[in-house]
Amino acid sequence: MKRHSISELLESEKYLQEVTIKGWVRTFRSNRFIALNDGSTMKNIQCVINFENFDETLLKRITTGAALSIAGTLVESQGKGQKVEIQVKNIEILGDSNPDEYPIQPKKHSLEFLRENAHLRVRTNTFSAVMRIRSSLSFAIHQYFMQNGFYYVHTPIITGSDAEGAGEMFKVTTLDINNTPKTEEGKIDYSKDFFGKETSLTVSGQLEAETYAMALGKVYTFGPTFRAENSNTSRHLSEFWMIEPEVAFNDLDANMDLAEDFIKYILKYILTNCDDDLQFLNQRFLQEEKSKPAIQRSDMSLLEKLQFVIDNNFKRVTYTEAIDILRNSKPNKKKKFQYIINEWGADLQSEHERYLVEKHFKCPVILFDYPANIKAFYMRLNEDEKTVRAMDVLFPGIGEIVGGSQREERLNVLKEKIKALNIDEKELWWYLDTRKYGSAIHAGFGLGFERLVQFATGMSNIRDVIPYPRTPQNAEF
Ligand code: 4AD
Ligand code: MG
Repeated sequence: MKRHSISELLESEKYLQEVTIKGWVRTFRSNRFIALNDGSTMKNIQCVINFENFDETLLKRITTGAALSIAGTLVESQGKGQKVEIQVKNIEILGDSNPDEYPIQPKKHSLEFLRENAHLRVRTNTFSAVMRIRSSLSFAIHQYFMQNGFYYVHTPIITGSDAEGAGEMFKVTTLDINNTPKTEEGKIDYSKDFFGKETSLTVSGQLEAETYAMALGKVYTFGPTFRAENSNTSRHLSEFWMIEPEVAFNDLDANMDLAEDFIKYILKYILTNCDDDLQFLNQRFLQEEKSKPAIQRSDMSLLEKLQFVIDNNFKRVTYTEAIDILRNSKPNKKKKFQYIINEWGADLQSEHERYLVEKHFKCPVILFDYPANIKAFYMRLNEDEKTVRAMDVLFPGIGEIVGGSQREERLNVLKEKIKALNIDEKELWWYLDTRKYGSAIHAGFGLGFERLVQFATGMSNIRDVIPYPRTPQNAEF
């Protein structure tokens, strides 16, 4: 018999049809009610059994976590809380789950405990909701770009160039690290390595995406990126996914318009398509907020926050204006910031970004025109020769969610920048070629996918929005 999905049956009004479902037991109450979940929806389906019709040894094996196949009749539910239920005719135990050992009991577990059981945590309501929303957000992202004339480009994971110039890369090598071949100067001889050169995992697909934008016009990448930065925060992963659109002939204003339109579209998509999961996470969010001290509490629910971002223009502010605001802010004057802002040129920390968004403007903010020397080499230099056409989108509770820029399209300016930063021009010969042959202004940005999922689900730690987080000292699973 065809297997039905629980989501399909819960919506069905075809009563008295014979159905078969397969899933995992969430609870089994009073030897009578099995709550079964198959992942197709947040909701369980109630399966009602008449225990006299079943063998006692079989009933004992219906434990939380066990996999069952259930055949029965779909009927209108007598109880409250659900529209339909299944009157069970036959139960097959597909896989037992020892109740004394199974870690995911039907009670509240701490997120820390669940992180240690990341292979099983997706069997909880919270994680299944988060991961379904993660999946829907991915779909919405592809849909947005496809509807707007972008091509999806697969940029390499293994690379010889450090796009962000931060030197935070994981090496890729097949050399025996205990016995590396040496050059005459005593350095590691990478010509003997697998690729014949020094290679790493990519921190960004941008540089390669730029070359594709200069032919296909509008492109985007959506892939894993890797950063060996030793930041143990609730917003940093060593392996994360990034979405990077790149558009020929776009300037910084068009880049900001794109970022804003794009983010609003994908958030609208989940509000329309992920109602059950979002309702659940909204309740969870409100519960979590209640346990916080009053001043730290959000004045909006999760759903209100999502709607707020969709309904409001992102406030566009130059770095210079932001520095003035921060310098004169209460936490700066009272030395409440960990990093006090004294002068123009200071790099902004997440405490400053969050102050601007949460306290000052009270809406998403796009900061632009940053000092050249705190940003990457490829950003377009402004007339003032001090600032570059960079933009960061800052979100409440998250801080930076997008980083992007208009790119330096002038070969001589770019070359000088590369020289000043001591980057080996030879490594970037192909990148420089795009400035030699039909160069044109262009712009793009990177959206940190996990930070977006954090915002969309209200989860406060980035480790809880990716199936298997990689962070310093942690690569289990
Ligand atoms: O600001 P970033 O470093 O920008 C770039 O990599 C550019 N090449 C993007 C481009 O213009 N095509 O990173 C972009 C975004 C950040 O705004 C943040 O959301 C996310 O990526 N991000 C991280 N997310 C999780 N863990 C980390 N360690 C992250 N580092 C950056
Ligand atoms: Mg950035």
